Amino acid sequence: MTEAIKGIEKETVPGEGAVAATTVAVARTPTEPAAGRGAALRVEGAGISFGDFRAVQGIDLDIPAGEFLCLLGPSGCGKSTLLSAMAGFIQVSEGTLTAGGAPVRGPDPELGMVFQSSEVLFDWMTVHQNVTFGPRMRGVSRVEQNRVADEFLGLVGLRHCADRYPGQLSGGMRQRVQIARVLANEPGVVLMDEPFGALDAQTRQVLQQETARIWEASGCTVVFVTHDIDEAILLADRVAVMTAGPAASIKSLYTVDLPRPRDESDPAALRLRSRLREDIGEEVRKAMRDQGLDDRLDREAKGA
Ligand SMILES: Nc1ncnc2c1ncn2[C@@H]1O[C@H](COP(=O)(O)OP(=O)(O)OP(=O)(O)O)[C@@H](O)[C@H]1O
Ligand SMILES: [Mg+2]
Repeated sequence: MTEAIKGIEKETVPGEGAVAATTVAVARTPTEPAAGRGAALRVEGAGISFGDFRAVQGIDLDIPAGEFLCLLGPSGCGKSTLLSAMAGFIQVSEGTLTAGGAPVRGPDPELGMVFQSSEVLFDWMTVHQNVTFGPRMRGVSRVEQNRVADEFLGLVGLRHCADRYPGQLSGGMRQRVQIARVLANEPGVVLMDEPFGALDAQTRQVLQQETARIWEASGCTVVFVTHDIDEAILLADRVAVMTAGPAASIKSLYTVDLPRPRDESDPAALRLRSRLREDIGEEVRKAMRDQGLDDRLDREAKGA
C-alpha cells in the first residue's frame, strides 16, 4: 500500500509493519562511493540474544556500499547491540550478517568502530602513535605510518597536535583523534555509536560537518547511531527507526530527499523530522509503559 503525504511516501510492507520512504536526491548515489572504498552490509533475519534475553529479532537491512545510514530508536532497544554485531564484537544468534559479501565472524580492520567515549584512546601514546597504531600492528613502514598520520590527522584538523597526549586535548579533539585512528585503518565500513553524544552543541555541529565531509571524501559505508533526529537528517542517506525492545526490529526506514549540505529549515526536512518524532515517540511511550514509567510520569505531571 502506498500513501502520499506531501512529498513523503509511506509504504506498508506485508508482515513488516510500516516502512516509509521519501524519494532520493542526494549529491551522489549511495551505490557509487566517491573513492570506491565502501563495503556493502547485509543483515538478513538477524536476531541477537544474551542467554534467554532476545535483544533484537528479525532485522533486515540492506546497506549499499558507500551509504550513510543512521539508526534511531528508544534507549535500550538494541542499537549498540546491532552495531556491535556489525563490528564483529558479538555474533548474531540467528539470521546472517555479511560485510562485502563475507560473513562477519569477528573484529576486522575493515570494520571500524567509533565509540561514544574517547576513553578508548591509549592515554600513554601520543596522538601520532594512537592514529598509527593499526598500521603499526600491520607492520607497515615508518614512512607509511607518517603518511597515514599526516593524511588522517589532516582530515580531522589535528596535524598540529600529533605530539600531544590525549590528556592534553579537549573532549572534541579526543573524539576527532578517535575518528582519525579508525579511518587510518582505511575501513570499508565505519560504525559510529553516538560518537558526539557527550559533546557540547557547538563542537557537535563542527564534528557533524567534518563527518559528512570525511564520508564524502572516503566513500566508506557508515552506520551511525544517534538519539538526535536533526543529526540524522543532517547526515543520513537513509534513517532506520527501531522499535522498543525486547526483540526489537526495524519499525521504519526513510530515504532523505535533500541535497547536501542539508538545510534543516527545508520543508521536506521539517516533514521528515515530524515523521521521525512520531515514530520514535510511539516507541519511547511503548518502552515507558513496559517499564511502568508512564503511570509515574502521569502522576508527576498531575503533581501527585
Ligand atoms: N552483554 C549483555 N548481556 C545482557 N544483556 C545485554 C547485553 N548488552 C545489551 N544487553 C541488553 O540488550 C538491550 C539492548 O541494549 P543496547 O545497549 O543495544 O541498547 P541501545 O539501543 O544501544 O540503548 P542506548 O540508546 O541507551 O545506548 C538492553 O535491554 C540491554 O540491557
Ligand atoms: Mg547504545
